[in-house]
Amino acid sequence: MAAGRDLNPFHFSGPLPPEQMIDRDQEADDLLALALGGHSFRLVGPRRYGKTTLLLRVLEAAEREGMATVLVDLQDVLSMAEIVVRIERAYDRLRGQIRRRIESLLRAWNIGLSLGGGGFTATLQRNPQVDAESVLLRLLELPAALFERDGTASLIVFDEIQDVLAVPGADGKIRRVIQHQAQAATYAFAGSAPGVMEQLFADPRRPLLDQAVPRNLAPLPIPDAADYVAGRFSRTGRDVGSALTPLLEFSRGHPMRSMMLAHYLWERTARGVAADEGTWLAALDQAIDDSAQLMQAIWRALSTNERRVARALAVAATPLYSHDTAAAVGIRRTSIGKALESLTGKADVIAVEGKPRLTDPMFELWLQTRGLTPASGEGGIRTPERG
Ligand SMILES: Nc1ncnc2c1ncn2[C@@H]1O[C@H](COP(=O)(O)OP(=O)(O)OP(=O)(O)O)[C@@H](O)[C@H]1O
Ligand SMILES: [Mg+2]
Repeated sequence: MAAGRDLNPFHFSGPLPPEQMIDRDQEADDLLALALGGHSFRLVGPRRYGKTTLLLRVLEAAEREGMATVLVDLQDVLSMAEIVVRIERAYDRLRGQIRRRIESLLRAWNIGLSLGGGGFTATLQRNPQVDAESVLLRLLELPAALFERDGTASLIVFDEIQDVLAVPGADGKIRRVIQHQAQAATYAFAGSAPGVMEQLFADPRRPLLDQAVPRNLAPLPIPDAADYVAGRFSRTGRDVGSALTPLLEFSRGHPMRSMMLAHYLWERTARGVAADEGTWLAALDQAIDDSAQLMQAIWRALSTNERRVARALAVAATPLYSHDTAAAVGIRRTSIGKALESLTGKADVIAVEGKPRLTDPMFELWLQTRGLTPASGEGGIRTPERG
């Protein structure tokens, strides 16, 4: 934070640097122990739950232990060439001795890869016919080459791994190369859709990946979130006051929503002043306005039956599988299970104390405040708590 400036201490876009995170000590220790022990793992958690934030912290700790660490962001990759570029870019973030070693390895290979400069992108521009597939296979051998050279082991994170499924054959290639690197490298795979992750990792025709130790990312512990929010308000000369409780109750440990709402709340709280319920409602109103478009997009991406079940989860006071609920949202009772399963597969729904609940509290609120009028005749529909 810049000294003397009054800057909002709550960030909600992209991964947080380790020193800014609510530490998730237990998870970080657990994942680090797996990595140091040479056990590959897969981390599944809903969108915006802090997967990348947590993995960056684990990478930083592994680096202190002497590992070469890389985070490969595979989000939205469409081709082999793009996968090559993402991996190359991940290595480009390395510094110091390890970077120099990798640079010299790549130079010796002479297949169009390099750190800094134009890298493989420039190679592609010069020669679009280049065989990206064999370059990828070679690049995946880098941890083994590094290990052979001086015994440096690598920790490699493939973030948003499910997106490689868009590139035919890519997951097979990755698997084939990395399964021979037991000593040289440990792999971490992160993804947000448990359904697709299951497909990638539990398929018997896809060996190795099923050996990755599974881990699920839980919501933030509420007391930790409370300390963090209150602490950052007071460090910046403010008091979160009676706004804290509704904020925590509403966000229920959703990492990005907690930070977003804390951000808006802070924005509305002047230095030397305590926030209250009015401040909270104003912050929530802004969050509603700002996320309206995204909520529309999420809604449109759902199938009709998924919408019905999502709506039921948000507003029905009667049990999910009851006749009343089914009638209120216009679904056949026998179709509820399948729609719920597919919402769960995309992590739009998670289990909270054994019961299905919408993952994103903003989406839940959005569903409550539009559509169904909570008219008297409609048994089972509860009025949203706020007007
Ligand atoms: N440990 C944490 N402490 C505080 N805030 C967090 C923490 N983890 C995540 N967040 C909040 O969530 C936001 C998203 O975090 P991050 O990008 O790591 O999540 P992700 O699961 O990787 O998301 P995506 O699905 O977009 O890849 C951060 O900007 C921050 O506001
Ligand atoms: Mg991420």
